[in-house]
Amino acid sequence: MTEKGTFYISTPIYYPSGKLHIGHSYTTVAADCMARFKRMMGYDVMFLTGTDEHGQKIERRAKDDGKEPQEFVDEIVDWIKDLWGVLDIEYDDFIRTTQERHKKIVQKIFQKFYEQGDVYKDKYEGWYCTPCESFWLERQLETGNVCPDCSRPVEWVKEESYFFKMSKYADRLLEHIEKNPDFIQPPERKNEMVNNFLKPGLQDLCVSRTTFKWGIPVPMDPDHVIYVWLDALTNYITALGYLSEDDSRFEKYWPCNVHLVGKEIVRFHTIYWPIFLMAFGLPLPKQVFGHGWLLLEDGKISKSKGNVIDPKVLSEKYGSDAVRFYLLREIPFGSDGVFTPESLIERMNYDLANDLGNLLNRTVAMVDKYFDGEIPEPDKSAEEVDEDLRSLAIKTPEEMVGYMNDLKFSDALEHLWKLIRRTNKYIDETRPWILGKECKDDENKKNRLGTVLYNLSESLRIISIMLWPFMPKTPGEIWEQLGIEDENILKFDSVKEWGHLKPGQKVKKDKPLFPRLEIEEELEKLSEKEDQSEKTNKDAKTEGPSHADYALKDETVKIDDFAKLDIRVAEIINAEPVKGADKLLKLEVDLGFEKRQVVAGIAKKYSPQDIVGKKTLMIVNLKPTKIKGVKSEGMILAASDIKGDKDEVVLTSLDDVDITKGSKVE
Ligand code: ME8
Ligand code: MG
Repeated sequence: MTEKGTFYISTPIYYPSGKLHIGHSYTTVAADCMARFKRMMGYDVMFLTGTDEHGQKIERRAKDDGKEPQEFVDEIVDWIKDLWGVLDIEYDDFIRTTQERHKKIVQKIFQKFYEQGDVYKDKYEGWYCTPCESFWLERQLETGNVCPDCSRPVEWVKEESYFFKMSKYADRLLEHIEKNPDFIQPPERKNEMVNNFLKPGLQDLCVSRTTFKWGIPVPMDPDHVIYVWLDALTNYITALGYLSEDDSRFEKYWPCNVHLVGKEIVRFHTIYWPIFLMAFGLPLPKQVFGHGWLLLEDGKISKSKGNVIDPKVLSEKYGSDAVRFYLLREIPFGSDGVFTPESLIERMNYDLANDLGNLLNRTVAMVDKYFDGEIPEPDKSAEEVDEDLRSLAIKTPEEMVGYMNDLKFSDALEHLWKLIRRTNKYIDETRPWILGKECKDDENKKNRLGTVLYNLSESLRIISIMLWPFMPKTPGEIWEQLGIEDENILKFDSVKEWGHLKPGQKVKKDKPLFPRLEIEEELEKLSEKEDQSEKTNKDAKTEGPSHADYALKDETVKIDDFAKLDIRVAEIINAEPVKGADKLLKLEVDLGFEKRQVVAGIAKKYSPQDIVGKKTLMIVNLKPTKIKGVKSEGMILAASDIKGDKDEVVLTSLDDVDITKGSKVE
């Protein structure tokens, strides 16, 4: 163990039910940044991530794909590990809940709970949300019997189950939460847990299922599998070897310093998990931090949004450092924030290309020009601007440590950028290009110019070291250009003092660190990419319906608004494909009182011959428009299946009923 001690940080273990998106990357990048920061400071770090591979959702998804569950998750886990490679995630361990090391300990844990009377068998009847793998009480559901977490329909399940006596530990947990204000962060999450869940009284938790097989069998009753959240949460200790032959890592790292999780699973981590640990007599994690959600302008992130949110595509295009920087800088960690490609490109242009990239570029160019590419010796005497720059450079790492201890990534970066901007301003104040002109016949000016360029380079050294946990690739490029070869001056301890950079080392001018991008052009390119990936995604695992798919519109309309629409029964009398648009059909419809032409996006599901003669519904008083250059005088009503391929739009049909063309929907 090092002098500083240990630091254990975890991400949630993600469901490998489909590819991960930028939202999952957000948590993992934050955890990686923190782990790197602590390692840099000298802590012995344990950074754990992994995958939560059991449960009904995965079982169904695998079946849909015609695969065995294990084969199905193996492929996705490979994809996930590759993603973490792309994003420079340096985890110390990757736990999969299908690994033997996990399964056998979960069974031991279950057995122990049963033997000590915390788990008992009973009947369960109630509501269950499969996507969230969680149980709900009637009163907790939202209108329309949908899950309060994800807004998808819940299912009524009836089965014999094992239950965990949550209520037995509720008071102790409440007391722990009150006594340890840091336990649940940020503080608003604490209030929510206490007021909405703990104070109203805890229900005993159902901890086994019989309606599916893909899980860890209950040891004394193998018809049951262990409920996924008990299986999942224990990963944080099974990965360390708890109850195994070698529990040295458990002894060393437990209790965890911080579990990073999205806000929707704070409940599991601050109620169920601590209670399981109490039942074992184990210390609780020091902190659970529930960060906010990354949203898109039109709502929650979902797979159907395509490539804009594919972290691999973004990294390939802009570099993983830029993606990491954006995620950590743009949104204060506890809050929700909106992800837009525009803001990513703006950050790259302003913060990375302008502020950081230019600073390096100008510095190296001047060392090249005035000192033959050798970092000059600084003068002993210092002017006020020098002192000012130095003191900020020395203060900045300390301030960043303070913010990082509170997981305030964005503030930490903001302070680093203050130093970067201060250093740029130092160039304007000291005007080295004028000194450069004057120094030919003035030794003093030459000395002054040397000092200025030394100070710029030294400031860049400190900046680059502090940048490393956030952007692991860029510092290496800075060191290369500054000609730094001595690793010792790149250690964290070296940023506490000014002057470690060695005069005389040779700079190497290279291309700018970050290109300046044209926003319009980039947005266009991103949307092109999106189309391509839609195609390639077809044979990859597609996600099921997303939260957004099921969410009902918040806005209600008055009956008068509805009455403005003129919806009629229409008979399709002719249909043909639209050139250059493989989703569209051009239809001729008979409304009884007249015939119309209308374009409908139904070609993925129907061929022209399938639908001629069908009766359907059509809005007839929409303003006529052109779709792909073809006139369309109305809109056919059709639904895109939230569980199926979104392009396979299904027509409303009135074929089995006796109704006259032109009849009105009222
Ligand atoms: O919940 N914004 O797995 P999961 C921010 N297996 N973070 C997001 C996000 C978004 N839009 N979308 C996802 C599970 N995340 C369980 C966890 S832990 C013992 C078991 C991140 O695949 C965030 O960290 O649904 C969130 O909590 C997690 O991914 C959910 O991943
Ligand atoms: Mg989830």
